[in-house]
Amino acid sequence: MFKLRLPTDPRWVNIVEKNIPEILTDHAWCEQKAASNAISIIVRYPEFEELVSVMLDIAQEELAHFKMVTEKIKERGFILGPERKDEYVNLLYNFRRKGGSRTQQLLDHLLFAAMIEARSCERFRLLSENIKDEELKKFYHELMISEANHYSTFIGFAKKYCAAEDVDARWQQYLDYEGEVISRFGKKETVHG
Ligand SMILES: [Fe+2]
Ligand SMILES: [Fe+2]
Repeated sequence: MFKLRLPTDPRWVNIVEKNIPEILTDHAWCEQKAASNAISIIVRYPEFEELVSVMLDIAQEELAHFKMVTEKIKERGFILGPERKDEYVNLLYNFRRKGGSRTQQLLDHLLFAAMIEARSCERFRLLSENIKDEELKKFYHELMISEANHYSTFIGFAKKYCAAEDVDARWQQYLDYEGEVISRFGKKETVHG
């Protein structure tokens, strides 16, 4: 669906399975970051009425995911622990154009978000298919669907507000860059690790 350049090695799931408290903590903070990112889009682009309205929905949904993961953590007797830095997301952030027109910046912000949703969705699919824990299998299947919808929403807004050829060209660059970045990961028990 996403045409990611590099699939995650399924052995990443074996690493995750050995440290469920860590993946849950990292995952919880990923959801918090996704909610914060939706809010930051609202703060930066308040003039786009439909975008603001849908980002409010996404922020609420991501916050609900954050709560769901923290509840899983509690149910299992683990603790949330401090926020985990996400090196993968930070590298994608560096790829965003800091200058350029407002439309170019909006495009990059939307594609940055779409890229993270696409890779998260791919990782959640792997977990839902391969993790032995039945409860987490279902949990990640549900979240995979939700994050796939977010991916489509971000791409949809990019196409609504930016020229189609700019979206396509920049998305190809994002895919290439992300493929190079992700080749260095896949070895840690975190959502993008
Ligand atoms: Fe989410
Ligand atoms: Fe999402």
